[in-house]
Amino acid sequence: MAGPGERSTNLLGVRHILLVLSGKGGVGKSTLSTELALALRHQGHKVGILDVDLCGPSIPRMLKVQDRAVHQCDSGWVPVFVGQDRTIALMSIGFLLERPDDAVVWRGPKKNALIKQFVTDVAWGDLDFLIVDTPPGTSDEHISTVEALRPYRLLGAILVTTPQECTNIFSKGGGEELAKHAGVPFLGRVPLDPQLSQSLEEGRDFIQEFPKSSAFPALAHIAQQILDTAQQSS
Ligand SMILES: Nc1ncnc2c1ncn2[C@@H]1O[C@H](COP(=O)(O)OP(=O)(O)OP(=O)(O)O)[C@@H](O)[C@H]1O
Ligand SMILES: [Mg+2]
Repeated sequence: MAGPGERSTNLLGVRHILLVLSGKGGVGKSTLSTELALALRHQGHKVGILDVDLCGPSIPRMLKVQDRAVHQCDSGWVPVFVGQDRTIALMSIGFLLERPDDAVVWRGPKKNALIKQFVTDVAWGDLDFLIVDTPPGTSDEHISTVEALRPYRLLGAILVTTPQECTNIFSKGGGEELAKHAGVPFLGRVPLDPQLSQSLEEGRDFIQEFPKSSAFPALAHIAQQILDTAQQSS
């Protein structure tokens, strides 16, 4: 494991890093992170998910691996592998917080240093994509995460929003207006889809099982744009 200030080699095998952010909570970041990972996996890519949400880590549940234990090897934390083909690797602060002794440490004054260390201390091996799911807003977790990732290649950040979150500023509302305003690409609009929320609750693979559902085309289209962007950048 790399000590504080020491550069870890754990992220050197990761080709593209993506951050998933939002202004407010509960808008679908963890959902998008999970479904994007599944969609990229179905396209044959090796994907990692790093869940840095200290307050409500939800991805282990969405991928039905919440009961798995993590352990450490010489180069750091070994992620949990999802599915039979083990092509999604997941590391969540949630896995560590379930250990009562760790929870005390993680809430202490050294939180930022620990998050930074956490980000670089996962033994990912080779990955095509690493998706980093973050808590809502811009908190210590974001600052520490971005600082830790600075030496590595960031493909970009996906901002998740809902029409309601924007109505105060933009009369027509929604992410498309926000994207136009900020001069960044608008990736898509994911409709509310009961099959999606149900499959997340049950830890199922929505991308494989529900290709005819309403959210599927939007999620597939977002994944395709990520792939196109990645191809252009490499
Ligand atoms: N397109 C959708 N259709 C139906 N349900 C959805 C959709 N997107 C998200 N949800 C549901 O909304 C809830 C919140 O989503 P999610 O946990 O992904 O949000 P979040 O932004 O990660 O929240 P937090 O800020 O707490 O981390 C979840 O129960 C999820 O199942
Ligand atoms: Mg979340």
